[in-house]
Amino acid sequence: MSLHIGDTAPNFTTDSTIGEINLHKWAEDSWVFFFSHPADFTPVCTTEMGRTAQLADEFSARNVKPLGLSTDIVEEHWDWIYDVNSTQNTGVHFPILADPDCEVAQLYDMIHPGESNTEAVRSVFIIDPDKKIRLSMTYPMSVGRNFDEILRVIDALQLGDKKSIATPADWRPGDKVIIPPSIDNEEAKKLFPNGWEELRPYLRLTEIN
Ligand code: BEZ
Repeated sequence: MSLHIGDTAPNFTTDSTIGEINLHKWAEDSWVFFFSHPADFTPVCTTEMGRTAQLADEFSARNVKPLGLSTDIVEEHWDWIYDVNSTQNTGVHFPILADPDCEVAQLYDMIHPGESNTEAVRSVFIIDPDKKIRLSMTYPMSVGRNFDEILRVIDALQLGDKKSIATPADWRPGDKVIIPPSIDNEEAKKLFPNGWEELRPYLRLTEIN
């Protein structure tokens, strides 16, 4: 099944390191950073699990719950978490789904046969509190994800929702933002009373607090 931005994230109930999880219920009114891994006890995955745990306060500050998936069983996840904690100097406190039969991985199109028929690639789904998929990205098994980018895109999505703006290339929090073309100048005067820089009628930059 191929999933698109704007789709409702398919719900599922499955076993995890904190017991059975029903995605929509577990998410409550939080955002979800849902990310898959090929397998337990693999080096790249170990660093990614550790990085997610190290960033617990950053995710929490953004009202985001991390949710991992690996195509192994809960008991293996627990043994692996011990390794992650000791090699990455952290404590994994977010749940990891156990998906040995790849049911959730298939539901989210995480199995890419060109990479593996039995293990998930490195998928990311950012799901908002309305359970809509707001971002998806896919990395190959051999490349660890950039967690600065994951936090950056969450910041951009949340700021966009709050302030009706878009963000330019390489935007970082505090940088100028874009007034989207869907907002005409009359409306923009109300939304952005401090004005904007108009490089082209379709390219208006403004500062936001
Ligand atoms: C890893 O996590 O290190 C990994 C997993 C599957 C294939 C290649 C690398």
